Amino acid sequence: MILKPKGTYDIVGENSKYYNYIKGVFSTVCEYYNFNYIRTPIFEDSSLFHRSVGESSDIVSKETYDFKDRGDRSITLRPEGTAGVVRAYIENKMYGEVDQPIKLYYEGTMYRYERPQAGRYRELTQFGVEVLGSDSEIEDAEVISLAYRAFEEMGIEDVVVKINSLGDNESRDNYRKALVEYLKPHIDELCPDCKKRFETNPLRILDCKVDKDSPILKNAPVITDYLNEESKKRFNKVLEYLNVLDVDYEVDTSIVRGLDYYNHTVFEFQTEMEGLGSANTLGGGGRYNHLVELLDGPSTPCVGFACGIDRLMIILKEINKDREIKNSLDVYVLSVNEEERLTAARLVQDLRWSEIKCEMDTMNRSLKAQFKQADRLGARQLILLNSEDLKRGIITVKDNLTHEEIKIDEAEIIDYLISNL
Ligand code: HAM
Repeated sequence: MILKPKGTYDIVGENSKYYNYIKGVFSTVCEYYNFNYIRTPIFEDSSLFHRSVGESSDIVSKETYDFKDRGDRSITLRPEGTAGVVRAYIENKMYGEVDQPIKLYYEGTMYRYERPQAGRYRELTQFGVEVLGSDSEIEDAEVISLAYRAFEEMGIEDVVVKINSLGDNESRDNYRKALVEYLKPHIDELCPDCKKRFETNPLRILDCKVDKDSPILKNAPVITDYLNEESKKRFNKVLEYLNVLDVDYEVDTSIVRGLDYYNHTVFEFQTEMEGLGSANTLGGGGRYNHLVELLDGPSTPCVGFACGIDRLMIILKEINKDREIKNSLDVYVLSVNEEERLTAARLVQDLRWSEIKCEMDTMNRSLKAQFKQADRLGARQLILLNSEDLKRGIITVKDNLTHEEIKIDEAEIIDYLISNL
C-alpha cells in the first residue's frame, strides 16, 4: 500500500465539514469587507520566494520545496501566498485599475519542509487577504478586524491579537544596531540557530522558540523605543482605529514575524487553547510597503495576513461545534418498498431544488436502520412514507427533536418544511 507523504493529511470525513465551514465563513466575511477572490499558481519561479520572503528567513533557507522541471527551470512550491499575489498584481497591472486599493482574498495549500507535529504540516492550507495600494492606517485595522470577526463568527473566543511595529527603514536600522550591540557579548549563550540569525537577521532572535524565556531576550532593548516620530505616530493611529473597530489587542514587542518583507505594523493571532502546543499562532501578517517595488513593480504600500486553516480545524474540534458543523441535514426521507422509494426519490429531488438538505436510503436498510442513519446525520425532520398515505396524497412528517408527528397535504410539504426547519 502506498502511504501519504510525511507531514500531509487527507481532508475526509468530519474534517471535510470543518474545512468547508472555515472557508465559507472567511469567504463570506471577505465579501462583506468588499474583497475579491484571487487564485495564483501553487508553483512559481524559485526567485520569487527567494527575493520576497528573504534568503535569511527559515522558510527560504531550510523549508522550501525546490526542484528543476523538465525544461530545467527552477521551480518552488509556494511556501506562502503573499509573494504570488504581489507577482500577479504586477503582472496583471492591477495598479492601473480605477478602483484602488486592490483588495484580494485567497485560500489554498502551501508547502514548507518543517518537522511535522500537532498543527504543523508540510502541506498546510492558508486563508489570506492582501490590500495593495493604500497606506492608510484604516487598512491595517481593517484586515485585523476582518480576521477577528471571522474568529468570532466561528465561535473561537479566546484569540489574542498581538501587535507591534517594526517602524520604517530608519527606525528598524537604528533598532537593529542597538540589538546587535546588546546581544554581542551574550551570543554564545544562545541556541545555534540564533547564532546564525545574529549574522543574517538579528531581529529574528526575538521570536526564537528555544530561547524565548531566556533573561537575555527578556532584557533586550525593545523596538518601540527606537521608532522615529513618524513611525510612532503611525503605530498609534493603527491602535486608535482598532479601538474604534472594537478589536481587543495587546502590544507585544517580541512580535517580529519570520518573513523579511514587513515594515511598520506586524501582528499575530494567538490562542492559549489546548491541542496546538507551540503551534498556537492561528495567523499573522503585517504591512509590507516595499515588496511590490522589490519585485520590479511601482512603489505600492500593502498590508495583509494569512491564517492556518489546519490549525483552525483543530481548535474548532476542541471547542466542540460538532452538532452545528458535522450534523447538519435538514430532512431524511424514509421508505421501504419500491413504490415508496420512487416517491422518495422525487420528493428528495424537489426538496433539494428548494435548498433543503436531505437524504434517503439507497442501501435497502430496514426501517429501524434508516431511523438510526437519520439520527447519525442529525436530520431535523423525518418524512415517513407509507402506501396508505400516498394513495390519499398526504405525507407524514415527524419532528426529530420533539418527536411530534403531523400529516400534511403533499402539495404543501415544501412550505411546511421551510417554515419548520
Ligand atoms: P506565516 O506567519 O508564515 O505568514 O503563516 C501564516 C499562518 O499559516 C501561521 O500563523 C499558521 O497559522 C499557518 N502556518 C504556517 N506554517 C504552518 C505549518 N507548517 N503547518 C500548519 N500551519 C502553518 C505568512 O504566510 C504571510 N504570507 C502572511 C501575510 C499575508 N503577511 C502579509 N500578508
